Amino acid sequence: MSLRTAKATYDLVLLPGDGIGVEVIAEARTMLDQIATAIGVGFACTEIACGGKYWLEHGEKRDWPEGSEETCAAADAILLGAVGWPTASGSPATMQNGQMAGWSAVIGNRTRLDLFANVRPVRLLPGVLHNLSGERALVWKPENVDMVIVREGTEGLYSGVGERATDDSGATDLRVITRRASERVIRKAFQLSMARGRGAPKDKKKRVTCIAKHNVLHGCRLFVDIFREIAKEFPEVEPDVCIVDSFAMFVLTQPEHYDVCVTTNMFGDIVTDLASVLQGGMGMAVGCNIGDDHAMFEPIHGSAPPLAGKDRANPLAMLLATGELLAWLGARYADSRLTRAAAAVETAVATVVRANKTLPADLAGAEHAAARSVVAAAVRGELATLLAAR
Ligand SMILES: NC(=O)c1ccc[n+]([C@@H]2O[C@H](COP(=O)([O-])OP(=O)(O)OC[C@H]3O[C@@H](n4cnc5c(N)ncnc54)[C@H](O)[C@@H]3O)[C@@H](O)[C@H]2O)c1
Repeated sequence: MSLRTAKATYDLVLLPGDGIGVEVIAEARTMLDQIATAIGVGFACTEIACGGKYWLEHGEKRDWPEGSEETCAAADAILLGAVGWPTASGSPATMQNGQMAGWSAVIGNRTRLDLFANVRPVRLLPGVLHNLSGERALVWKPENVDMVIVREGTEGLYSGVGERATDDSGATDLRVITRRASERVIRKAFQLSMARGRGAPKDKKKRVTCIAKHNVLHGCRLFVDIFREIAKEFPEVEPDVCIVDSFAMFVLTQPEHYDVCVTTNMFGDIVTDLASVLQGGMGMAVGCNIGDDHAMFEPIHGSAPPLAGKDRANPLAMLLATGELLAWLGARYADSRLTRAAAAVETAVATVVRANKTLPADLAGAEHAAARSVVAAAVRGELATLLAAR
């Protein structure tokens, strides 16, 4: 990352998308306005409508307006809500080319802007209870859950290469694994382990775990071979390889073993949703899409159509993603105002969670739930105190 100087105003693109994506991004925008005033920085926010609803409502041609690609490319950073909306028949809106409506904003941005590292922190904040079969209990301890899963973001099974036979006799999706993409995402994972410096909760060892299916798949064999090559550049970090199906068990039974994990696109998509269970669920999990020149931040959850319009979605993942955006911009532009604001967002969310008074339904249960807007306001309340103290 090249170091630049702090700017008076940062150009941000906000992509609300569909369903609860629209609702949680509105909370992010309100928080950004609050931060801008408090720290004396400008955020010039351009909102671009996108997703399944946009496609359905605009003559089914594009899933966002003309020129959106250029606007995203020109932004200092992008914040994404979530895309995906069902048609009248209940199946997800799908474009003529077979891609889901909303593709352009998510997978399109990742590939077009070369956001090769999808960095997903998996941390359990003290105060969160796990929601299993409708009951809440502390299953994993916060001190045992502190890892980052890095997912390759530009190729793999989501490279968009494939087709469905016109007579429905079959379909193919080509899984593309290249040396270039593998090298840089694996190197990023090792760099992250070094930067975190604290290692895995179990033994404090810096460790990068490569998650693959190299016993079966050609692409994974290449990925693991490249992993072993890159590992030699980082003698302080322990290389570790785990077959993806075993990882799906170990991530729940011994999360304390993991420091940084790295994997290909679709495996990463699935194992990070699984790992979100350790954090209290999808409402707490953040995804940072990082490239050399661009970055996009999002909650990893989808548009949750059944929750839309009910003021019930958990806004905390979106607010934490906004904090990650501030941290990334702060580092990129050597802007200590943003770096401090990012830390304040994280502390504000952690304080609200620990206080256990104003939590959304997925964390508190329906009976004790606070509305999305009330939870977000509680975070802003903590943030006001923290920002005023600086
Ligand atoms: N990055 C993205 O934009 C993205 C990611 C995943 C899914 N999707 C799309 O979202 C739509 C719905 O998909 P899905 O139902 O499989 O996944 P989802 O993430 O929307 O929902 C999965 C489950 O998690 C719950 N949930 C998700 N976010 C929550 C939040 N913030 N607060 C409380 N509960 C929350 C939902 O109620 C649901 O029970 C689909 O169209 C899908 O393609 C988009």
